[in-house]
Amino acid sequence: MKPFDVFLPVHLVFGAGKIREIGEISKQYGKKAFAVFDPFLKDGSVVKNIRADLKKEGIDMVEFYDVSPNPRYTAMDEGVKICKANACDFVISVGGGSAIDSAKAIAIAVIHGGSCWDYTVRYFEMDKVRKPTTKGLPHIVVPTTAGTGTEATYASVVNNPNLKLKCAILNPIAYPDYGIVDPELMISVPREVTALTGMDAFAHAFETYISNGANPWSEALSLRSIELFVEHIRTAVNEPKNLDARMGMAVSSTLAGAAICQAGLAMPHAIGQPVSALKDAPHGGTLAACIPQIIEWTIPFAQEKFAKVAEIFDPSISCLGEAEKARKLPESLHQLYKDLDIAPTFGKYGMKEEEIPTAVDLCFGGFQWDLGGHPKPISREDAAEMFRRCL
Ligand SMILES: NC(=O)c1ccc[n+]([C@@H]2O[C@H](COP(=O)([O-])OP(=O)(O)OC[C@H]3O[C@@H](n4cnc5c(N)ncnc54)[C@H](O)[C@@H]3O)[C@@H](O)[C@H]2O)c1
Ligand SMILES: [Fe+2]
Repeated sequence: MKPFDVFLPVHLVFGAGKIREIGEISKQYGKKAFAVFDPFLKDGSVVKNIRADLKKEGIDMVEFYDVSPNPRYTAMDEGVKICKANACDFVISVGGGSAIDSAKAIAIAVIHGGSCWDYTVRYFEMDKVRKPTTKGLPHIVVPTTAGTGTEATYASVVNNPNLKLKCAILNPIAYPDYGIVDPELMISVPREVTALTGMDAFAHAFETYISNGANPWSEALSLRSIELFVEHIRTAVNEPKNLDARMGMAVSSTLAGAAICQAGLAMPHAIGQPVSALKDAPHGGTLAACIPQIIEWTIPFAQEKFAKVAEIFDPSISCLGEAEKARKLPESLHQLYKDLDIAPTFGKYGMKEEEIPTAVDLCFGGFQWDLGGHPKPISREDAAEMFRRCL
């Protein structure tokens, strides 16, 4: 067994109604919060209750709502200005991955200066990537989707629409200090968003499991995450108010997020993210579109692990040989997509054949870590062929 490191410096609490502890949790961080809220929360009871819970502890809150899916560094830089101008002591973020990732970048840039884009890893100009080693503002995160697991990662994915690039800040200082994972905040997630964000959680669990960087610690997180995903995703999509299913998906998502930083991802994220950058396509949708294709292309290189995952999806295949089990996995995924009413393809998100060379550049410019984690080596031609298959 190879040596490995584990670093997960975030206090996480899980459970229905836990959001009401936010005042008590916040008081250790100061008297003024910069709150990045997902726009769907505007004028709603969640914000009203948070405002009241903070007030009880004598904490003021500056509210910021400029967050879009595939969040832009320009909006984040505006957030930095407002946070600084108000001399906020700490950051709270409540929302999907886009809101939390925006806040992660803001918390860093407020302390370390410059633009949020400066901190992203760009493989074509690594000398320009800022990598501070001391913490930004303290940060409490409250996910309202079950998918990214960003509450347990040191990543923040930042979109640069001018360059049509999506790159990630990958820096241990981006870990939040506190995470409140409350399934009650997730019951309002629309059906398709539940399905696609759920697919993001599955992608994290699956990719970390097969990644070259996997270790016994990350494998435990990945496998439990996949089990919870298989157990709860259909109910979470079909019975949105089912708290047990929402909680199951929330925990699946956090476990998978925690696995990312211990093991790294693999080819689906490297192929999916460029499509989101080019077409503003939903992150989970691009992943769902390419995972079955990637499994078929990879099979002999990760057969044993594919077989294990296939058996979690369908325990009745336990009597089959390993190769047969592995080949069942894309079938199980296609059946799941039918049950969730999703049928994503890159073509459906507007990608055209002539955009493949640009997508390949984006893939190798921003996602080499993910490419390097894949159990089968990937050339530029392989990536181009994969984009073509997923059209
Ligand atoms: N930092 C990481 O570790 C990490 C990991 C994976 C993905 N990501 C990034 O996260 C982003 C995607 O995040 P996401 O999948 O959570 O989607 P999102 O944050 O973009 O949200 C999707 C949509 O759902 C809405 N929404 C969120 N919660 C809701 C709720 N409870 N009720 C009703 N509507 C709700 C949002 O307003 C938005 O319109 C992408 O940019 C992706 O690249 C980050
Ligand atoms: Fe993801």
